[in-house]
Amino acid sequence: MRRFPDGFMWGVSTSAFQIEGALDADGRGPSIWDDFFGESGDTGAVAVDHYRRWPQDVQLLAQLNVNAYRFSLAWPRLFPDGRRREQRGFDHYDRLIDALLERGIEPVVTLYHWDLPQALEDDGGWRDRDTAARFADFATDCYSAFGDRVKWWLTVNEPWIVGLLGYLHGLHAPGYRDDVFGEVTVFHHLLLAHGLAVAAYRAIGDGRIGAAPNLAPHYPASDDPADVAASHASDGYVNRWFLDALFRGTYPDDMRERYEAIVGPLDFVRDGDLATISEPTDYLGVNYYAPRVIQAVPGDTPWPWRVVVPEGIRTTGGFTGGVAHTEAGTPVVPAAFTDLLVRIRDDYGEIPILITENGAVFSEPVHDARRIEFVHDHLEAVHDAIEQGVPVLGYCHWSFLDNFEWALGYAQRFGLVHVEYETLARTIKDSGRWYARVAAANALPGPQ
Ligand code: FCB
Repeated sequence: MRRFPDGFMWGVSTSAFQIEGALDADGRGPSIWDDFFGESGDTGAVAVDHYRRWPQDVQLLAQLNVNAYRFSLAWPRLFPDGRRREQRGFDHYDRLIDALLERGIEPVVTLYHWDLPQALEDDGGWRDRDTAARFADFATDCYSAFGDRVKWWLTVNEPWIVGLLGYLHGLHAPGYRDDVFGEVTVFHHLLLAHGLAVAAYRAIGDGRIGAAPNLAPHYPASDDPADVAASHASDGYVNRWFLDALFRGTYPDDMRERYEAIVGPLDFVRDGDLATISEPTDYLGVNYYAPRVIQAVPGDTPWPWRVVVPEGIRTTGGFTGGVAHTEAGTPVVPAAFTDLLVRIRDDYGEIPILITENGAVFSEPVHDARRIEFVHDHLEAVHDAIEQGVPVLGYCHWSFLDNFEWALGYAQRFGLVHVEYETLARTIKDSGRWYARVAAANALPGPQ
């Protein structure tokens, strides 16, 4: 048995656009995702109809024995055109929050999980500095409305993915491609939005607030110094750009020089911005899915690395050979999760960490033994980090239930609860039943 610290938060995660559907209900305005057709051609028009079925979903949460639920507020429900307040949207989240608290479930609320009001995109979206200020106003309205009951806030979800997939690869809304300047501008404005929202919270809030970046531990593909250097460089792109800004108030020199070589001066970074971005936070949300194994790309290129599919990974805990992959093709390397958590502590200090996402695509409808193994092994990895002194407050599994997986639509199932998309019927999977026992015991059972 591996016991977790008293008060450990056992949670599950979702985001508004991925589950709510009901895009026209109660005065909601359009978001950048409403008409964005990813590779799958699916949209979030129905998703899992959580906006209407939330009472049943809260019961399911109770059946999972979770004591925390991470979800996001849909900005376009609360401010349909980015400005005008829609009370019916506030009423919806009031009811949801009250129902959670009645069942002893702590709401962990994300303010920005990608569904920007279309009206703000039309004004320039995250490329425009003013969007950061608008976000701080939006956050302040949310603190005022819900802060008496919500004590755990997350500002922005995965800024790296917003820039990478929304401005470089065109895979996520708003769908721009090859716009490196746009990408790095958007990174900065999302971080600035985070900092402004933290500062606003200090004036009126008495709970905890932090960011929720996705972080990927890096490993060179070989001992070749070129691969080692490439891995460090890629780590600057994915991890240090965000963590250095948040916790040191600087952008890493190597990455800053790289961007400047590609796009010229980063003149959208103004005096004082990094002080705002590094406003002290109460905790860090960590989204962890997989490590990146990096090989050097020779020649004169601004991006001197590539991600390779590893046959094995040398983590601090030893060599993991024959790495398994999820159905999304991501390598399953729990020991890399421990490395990541220990590294955050070693490099950035004893900031309390809440795992805000971790999960895998496995399509088995209900008897999902592979997910049980995945969660078991990742919880063991979290426990290893706790034993090494990393202050981990809790674990929120991605996801509560199968949902709209952005560009990949409904084909990719991440849930502990199965959703039959024709009928929207929910069934707790074997992994959900298993997770409910772990949460109730506050401990992991021995080897499976
Ligand atoms: C993360 C997102 C989340 C979900 C998972 C699978 O990048 O934050 O919304 O899509 O991946």
